[in-house]
Amino acid sequence: MSKQGKNRPVTKTTVREMKKKGEKITMLTAYDFNTAVLMDEMGVDIILVGDSLGMVVLGYDSTLPVTMDEMIHHTKAVTRGAKRPMVIADMPFMSYQASVDDALMNAGRFMKEAGAHGVKLEGGREVAEVVRRTTGAGIPVMGHLGLTPQSVHQMGGFRMQGKTAEAAKRIKEDALIIQEAGAFSIVLEVVPAALAEEISESLDIPTIGIGAGPYCDGQVLVVNDMLGMFERFTPKFVKKYADLGSEIKNAFQEYIKEVKEGSFPGPEHYS
Ligand code: KIV
Repeated sequence: MSKQGKNRPVTKTTVREMKKKGEKITMLTAYDFNTAVLMDEMGVDIILVGDSLGMVVLGYDSTLPVTMDEMIHHTKAVTRGAKRPMVIADMPFMSYQASVDDALMNAGRFMKEAGAHGVKLEGGREVAEVVRRTTGAGIPVMGHLGLTPQSVHQMGGFRMQGKTAEAAKRIKEDALIIQEAGAFSIVLEVVPAALAEEISESLDIPTIGIGAGPYCDGQVLVVNDMLGMFERFTPKFVKKYADLGSEIKNAFQEYIKEVKEGSFPGPEHYS
């Protein structure tokens, strides 16, 4: 539970204050109402309706096929369940890259139709104008640097970014540019811990790390990964806080057995 209090809604100001006070920010992804309710109850600060939706819920091989309509549908479910956490919707591939006007319209849809409190988008200097115009329209923007899954083909796979001095310099510059453009925080994904530390110290806005070591101002994990519910692939940086995949399989197995043998429904389940 954040020290910000159980009921006060989390905003961009809250997370900025948390950084100032050295209080770590907790962010998790969610894609449905029930998970959002549970996260709210337990005090998660920010819920990200990530486009990881495409891989861990919809079964795509990457995040590239995810559409605005799919994201809106799931963001609506999450905002119905989350009252205190700040809900950030991920702008899917090609919803902001083609033009600033597209970006504004799509970011606006998340706020108007889905009740999101802000949006996240991937990239550095190349999206600075989008960040500037979107924040200018009153929409809080979270940046995303390092491993940016929407550019998986450009990066040549899901691999650590910022390993060479030149690449690290570019990410540091991008972080400052995105802050300058108006972003209220930045996700740093799979970059060396020392680089994430340097960036976190150089920015006024909070960094939220994933596979970026302990020195970021907050951490994020994909909920299906941390609950042990996505078996296709588990990145090294994931800690499994539960093994729900096994629990669920046991429950299905037990149900099948009881229905087949006729022990479910029992007398207590019907009248
Ligand atoms: O889509 C997502 O879930 C994300 C997080 C991994 C930061 O972008």
